[in-house]
Amino acid sequence: MVNVLVVGSGGREHALSWKLSQSPKVDTVFTAPGNGGTENNVSIGVDDLDGLADFAQKNNCFTVVGPEDPLAAGIVDKFNQKNLRVFGPSQKATQLESSKIWAKNFMKRNDIPTAEFEIFDDAQKAQDYVKSLDYNVVVKADGLAAGKGVIVCNNNEEAFSAIDTILVKKTFGDAGNRIIIEERIDGIEASYIALSDGDVAIPMASSQDHKRIFDNDKGPNTGGMGAYSPTPIVDDALAKKIQEKIIDKTIQAMKNEGISFKGFLYAGVMIRDGEASVLEYNVRMGDPECQPITMRMNSDLYDYFVASIDGKLSSMPPISWKNQSAVCVVLASEGYPESYAKDEEITGFDSIPNEVHVFHAGTKKIDGKILSNGGRVLGVTALGDSLESAINNAYAAAEKISWSHKYCRKDIGKKGLSYL
Ligand code: AMP
Ligand code: GLY
Repeated sequence: MVNVLVVGSGGREHALSWKLSQSPKVDTVFTAPGNGGTENNVSIGVDDLDGLADFAQKNNCFTVVGPEDPLAAGIVDKFNQKNLRVFGPSQKATQLESSKIWAKNFMKRNDIPTAEFEIFDDAQKAQDYVKSLDYNVVVKADGLAAGKGVIVCNNNEEAFSAIDTILVKKTFGDAGNRIIIEERIDGIEASYIALSDGDVAIPMASSQDHKRIFDNDKGPNTGGMGAYSPTPIVDDALAKKIQEKIIDKTIQAMKNEGISFKGFLYAGVMIRDGEASVLEYNVRMGDPECQPITMRMNSDLYDYFVASIDGKLSSMPPISWKNQSAVCVVLASEGYPESYAKDEEITGFDSIPNEVHVFHAGTKKIDGKILSNGGRVLGVTALGDSLESAINNAYAAAEKISWSHKYCRKDIGKKGLSYL
């Protein structure tokens, strides 16, 4: 038996801890720093790589890293140097997410479908480029900006203002030293997540996130307001195309460039006329996509993490999924993704049916009470025999939970229904 250390504190990490704790091969699952819902919390921050390594060493842990920041900071390389078992990509491989410019150039030289783009560090030249185009653009900061460094523009004025915000005002700091201006593609987004061992990549179940804060995809982008799996938007034929033209090609091209990619590879794709192009790569599981995906997984996730590290995924059976839908409705603090209240007591957990899981994100437990402690607070995740029944089950449970400034979208999963 092995202990597991899950690094992170979001809903994704609660779902990973919950799933890994069901493995007969896993003894105790620790979470660092965890949240009000995770058990065996260890108060070490995700940026304290030495502290995490010491803990993993002393407690015989197999480590699973949830968020991008410690991965981009090189946690996997550090653990490997100390001969500690850790699941996730090396620092070099995280460039796919940590530098959007690196990722765009990588896609271009390897012929992986993505929107047309140019790179700028000069505002005037960027403006001139926008003026020369006959389509709308998206302006992106190069570096990690907690999902906020992307501005989707409806006209040239908005593009000029976005250039000013990122490149001149430096709203996202050094992450905005260089920008990408790319063609805006109007289509339907889906999350395609695969697990790789550096040689092959096996798909996880399909899913779709809901990035905007308000119903009908209005308002600013967030970390994700809800997700469901599977999504009818990615049918078998499209999944095959994405797997071959994007995922397999990416893993192979990384290998050819001397960078073995181990871990979750997440392609955020835009689908237009039956073809997918990559909007972004993430080098980790999605949050909240992880919650419905793990709910549907029959296989032992720990076995697949071991096979990823050891380069043995090709000898593993395909992952087995429940033939049901799962929906995760994120309950957030009103005001998110801007400012919001914290420390509000949350009630209603006792009335949640056993088959529904409330994964915690921005919560903390004080004297037995659960208090809000972040923008995305809970992910109410339910199964159902159809997408419609999973939606109904998730919302019925979500209604039982209350606190003063609770907010959620009311239309999670509806886009999928329109495709059935
Ligand atoms: P990213 O972090 O690059 O995925 O961008 C965040 C969000 O901006 C995406 O989820 C899309 O909703 C939107 N977006 C990014 N790139 C494009 C694009 N080329 N065309 C249209 N929307 C985009
Ligand atoms: N749900 C989007 C992400 O994890 O980046």
